[in-house]
Amino acid sequence: MTKQRYTITTALPYANGPLHLGHVAGVYIPADIYVRYLRAKKEDVVFIGGTDEHGVPITIKAKNEGVSPQEVVDKYHNIIDASLKQLGITLDVFSKTTSPTHRKTASDLFVKLHSEGAFTEQVTEQYYDEANNQFLADRYITGTCPHCANEKAYGDQCEKCGTTLNATDLIDPKSALSGNKPVLKQTKHWFLPLDQYEPWLKQWILEEHKDWKVNVYGQCKSWLESGLHPRAITRDLDWGIPVPVAGGEGKVLYVWFDAPIGYISFTQELLKNDPTRKWEDYWKKEGNSKLIHFIGKDNIVFHCIIFPSMLQLFGDYILPDNVPANEFLNLEGEKFSTSGNWAVWLHEFLLDFPDKTDVLRYALCSNMPETKDADFTWKDFQAKNNNELAANLGNFVNRAFVLTHKFFNGAVPALEALEDLDKNTLAQAKEFNTKIADSLDKFRFREACSELMKLSNLGNKYLADTEPWKIKENPERVGTILRIALEIAAKISVLGSPFLPETTLKMARWLGISNSEWSTAEADFLLTDGFTIATPQLLFTKIEDDAMTAQLEKLKASRAVAQEATVSVVPQKENVSFEEFSKMDIRIGTIVEAEKVPKTAKLLKLKIDTGIDQRTVVSGIAEHYKPEDIIGQQVSILVNLAPRNIKGIESQGMILMAENSKGELCFVAPEKAMENGGGVR
Ligand code: MF3
Ligand code: ZN
Repeated sequence: MTKQRYTITTALPYANGPLHLGHVAGVYIPADIYVRYLRAKKEDVVFIGGTDEHGVPITIKAKNEGVSPQEVVDKYHNIIDASLKQLGITLDVFSKTTSPTHRKTASDLFVKLHSEGAFTEQVTEQYYDEANNQFLADRYITGTCPHCANEKAYGDQCEKCGTTLNATDLIDPKSALSGNKPVLKQTKHWFLPLDQYEPWLKQWILEEHKDWKVNVYGQCKSWLESGLHPRAITRDLDWGIPVPVAGGEGKVLYVWFDAPIGYISFTQELLKNDPTRKWEDYWKKEGNSKLIHFIGKDNIVFHCIIFPSMLQLFGDYILPDNVPANEFLNLEGEKFSTSGNWAVWLHEFLLDFPDKTDVLRYALCSNMPETKDADFTWKDFQAKNNNELAANLGNFVNRAFVLTHKFFNGAVPALEALEDLDKNTLAQAKEFNTKIADSLDKFRFREACSELMKLSNLGNKYLADTEPWKIKENPERVGTILRIALEIAAKISVLGSPFLPETTLKMARWLGISNSEWSTAEADFLLTDGFTIATPQLLFTKIEDDAMTAQLEKLKASRAVAQEATVSVVPQKENVSFEEFSKMDIRIGTIVEAEKVPKTAKLLKLKIDTGIDQRTVVSGIAEHYKPEDIIGQQVSILVNLAPRNIKGIESQGMILMAENSKGELCFVAPEKAMENGGGVR
């Protein structure tokens, strides 16, 4: 049998925004810990990642920012790539689904399956926006959820109750482009007949993969038991990989068809110039590789049901061995929200805390949303740093180093006679190799992380019990105790390396050992007698309250900005002719007098110099401006609006105001002083 290999993938984030801590905790931290562990065991691994650059989320972002989709994905790909490197995520490749290799691979695989008759074709009715002459992606349609009555459900999913929807399920659908009610129009698409694979999927997952995590197995079971349906794998969209077969003009591959193929094409890119390894080794059955997908829970069906069906059709490809999906991480008790700006962005964290990458890795690992949603709070982050890393691990290592310098000038003391407590402690320490390995083998990252802390606890307790600083006139005994403490530190530097790569590398250098092989920790003793260890330095510095308060304030402030930015888009009104528009006589004027209209909250009585005359206008701006502050303010005024009687005052015209989604008003005024009476066109 060929040697065991590993193909480890990380879900490809959409390149429509930077990464936040939710992505990091759910996917990258567990994947990187697992891969570092495999590499430490000298396993043969490829570690694959990249950005998902097609699909509607990208086109929506481009539309909102007024730039091309390509500009959007290039920008965010680079930000994401750089931030992952800085966090120490050791991906072998970080590519993108707009790469030429990927486009060709995805296209070729589609053609292959198409020519083998794997797809069915169906003409379906799809929502179409007549004002914009285009079919609408499900995400571009909003309406009322048939399950929970949420009025802001999307055509693909209701984010309130989590139900996956078809756009035609929505009650009272609206196009996000025009605000109009979309019409149904016929269009042809290719489908993956998932219903046909149901029997083998049931066998493969429900019978052969009882070892998968409960949350993953459970989701698969409910999908399989409610019955699979053919799924469209093409879309009417102009951003994506063109459908490469006759009749595919104007259509692209569904993003969820192309993106997971990215794992394959990125492996091809990684190994194309490697004389010793072929990409097929990691994807075809004869390569004997274990495929493991690290993903978040919203991706389970794609990685456990749809992509495996595709892999099966590709021919001799391997299927996922495990899909250790995580649940979600929340932030200060609320869901992460990119659009609502409720997020801690990875690249910003790294700017604010450049020397705390290991702390972040530890905080997210020890609080991973493994079996249920977890919550990230800055207070907890501070506590993990101060009370666990600094006060437990850092303090233990520091004490061992300080005492060794104090009593032995930093030279690693030799072991002399062992007492029961020593033997006991060494035996306990030795158990951590298998404890941590077992946890990692089962994808129990929180448990693995807490075992590591227990090892450091053991060291602290040993020093507290033996009190070597109190022992006078028995240097051998002191030496033995310190040697045992230093050996525990050495073990931490090996077993902790997947979790805390920077810290443990430092420790290994200070101790004069190499920590890159898991098996070294199996030896009883790792250190060399007489080696001079480094002078003690702190491994972790404390985080003060101020820094945490600042982060909380930043978070709250950014949300306020986001709320201001989301202008609720009022659908466009009916067209008017130029003649109709020209009937409106809008001019520049200046407010010369202002006073409150008695017994009203909203109204101001203004006198406006219009260049033609000085006239009275009643305006509903009293909640936004004080009368005394607006004397001299230039405004745009509709002078030929028929006079109206408001609260007994004749209002002769109307001034123009702009409004944001919070209902705040401001004047629409010329950008430099203009003559009163000047026309506005
Ligand atoms: N972009 C998807 C998401 O963020 C994940 C794609 S994973 C892959 O939900 F399998 F398609 F690569
Ligand atoms: Zn709902």
